[in-house]
Amino acid sequence: MNNKPTILIIFGISGDLARRYLLPAIGAIANAGMMPEQFHIIGLTRQPDIKIENLLKKTSNAEYLRNHMSLKQIDVTNIDDYKKLGEHLKKISEKFDVPCQYIFYLSVPPQVSKSIIEFLGISGLSVIGETKLLLEKPFGVNLENATSLAKHTDKYFLPKQVYRVDHYMAKETAQNIIVFRAGNSLFKKTWNKDFIEKIEIIASEEIGIEGRANFYEQVGALRDYVQSHLLQLLALTLMKLPDDDKLDEVPLLRLEALKHIVLFDMDRNAKRGQYEGYTSEVNNPNSRVETFVSITLESNDERWRGVPITLTTGKALKNKFTEIRILYKKDKDRESNELLLRLQPEEGIQFNMWAKQPGYERKVNQHKLSFKFREHYDILPEAYEQVLFNAMNSDHSLFTTSDEILEAWRILDALQKVWEKSEEGLIIYKKGSTIDEVLSNE
Ligand code: BG6
Repeated sequence: MNNKPTILIIFGISGDLARRYLLPAIGAIANAGMMPEQFHIIGLTRQPDIKIENLLKKTSNAEYLRNHMSLKQIDVTNIDDYKKLGEHLKKISEKFDVPCQYIFYLSVPPQVSKSIIEFLGISGLSVIGETKLLLEKPFGVNLENATSLAKHTDKYFLPKQVYRVDHYMAKETAQNIIVFRAGNSLFKKTWNKDFIEKIEIIASEEIGIEGRANFYEQVGALRDYVQSHLLQLLALTLMKLPDDDKLDEVPLLRLEALKHIVLFDMDRNAKRGQYEGYTSEVNNPNSRVETFVSITLESNDERWRGVPITLTTGKALKNKFTEIRILYKKDKDRESNELLLRLQPEEGIQFNMWAKQPGYERKVNQHKLSFKFREHYDILPEAYEQVLFNAMNSDHSLFTTSDEILEAWRILDALQKVWEKSEEGLIIYKKGSTIDEVLSNE
């Protein structure tokens, strides 16, 4: 851990992400004694009447945050406000040792991010010492738009300054995929098309869009989940392993894996749905935005050719869970094995196998070998703790590069075009359905 004096500047401090995730994460890192000794948060908001106390309701270490935080009002479209921010930064950093690092966290909608990036560049704040930029998804809305966004960011920041957050990559089980694959020779040696029949990655959510009508109407499940979280999990599942735990190679290896992915026969392999009541929730009776997606892809990498890969996600479903299911090939029915890498809830790993039932007769049943992190460890950091910790320590391995993001858009590009043109095939499902129930409504 580096102990570099750090100033974290959060744009959008009064928003949901900052209140629910970022501030509690900082409180938790401080609790663990892992914050730099010299640390300060500047919370930026356009609202004049926000109080620190109101932002700390969800954090367990409010005392620490109260002592290490100031708020500033900002109009993000006014260059003079960036100059004032620069003066404020100077004042705080004068009390700190040098060199000090400045981390700009853009916890704002993408359109706002675009102009903040430009103003940080024009005002010179992008180059005041060691400066980092943390960006939240969605990174664009399609391949074309994401390409121009990446170019825009490159104009003002160097790639090594930019950290694109996909908090799923920072979940414990996601980080564990590589460790598990590399550290267990049984699985390492069978991690390919010769042994694996099929791969499914599922993120089922119980919640709906939680009042985020504006955001969701522009995004939908394909962009919100598949383009980011699910394709990144897939990349971690399929990528070649780095040599000797060289984690800095991971982003390039994930990119290589994504380059091999193809979506073909869209009519058969891509389904979308919308939960009942969505249109009135977003106040748009004609909305065809999908809240459920299930697509089947393939990799043309020799190691994976012919293995179907299904990515499924949906809102307002029966349960919340995210898991990667690896189904092994079998010669007979009773030989099928399944490996589940579970991201949530009950993070862990489960292996389904067969065993003889005790007794005189020869009956065989399926049983689970199961490992749950919580049964062995008291502390399981939340994803945003890891995100902030890694950014402070200049570790890029859990962040997505712009090349990976563009590659993910490339995979979905043709499908997006077809879905934009036609409204056919939208499955309307009841809230609380299971994935099978949604698909059976087709
Ligand atoms: C976000 C999506 O990235 O992840 C949300 O925009 C989704 O739509 C959320 O609800 C889920 O995150 P988690 O960590 O609760 O599974």
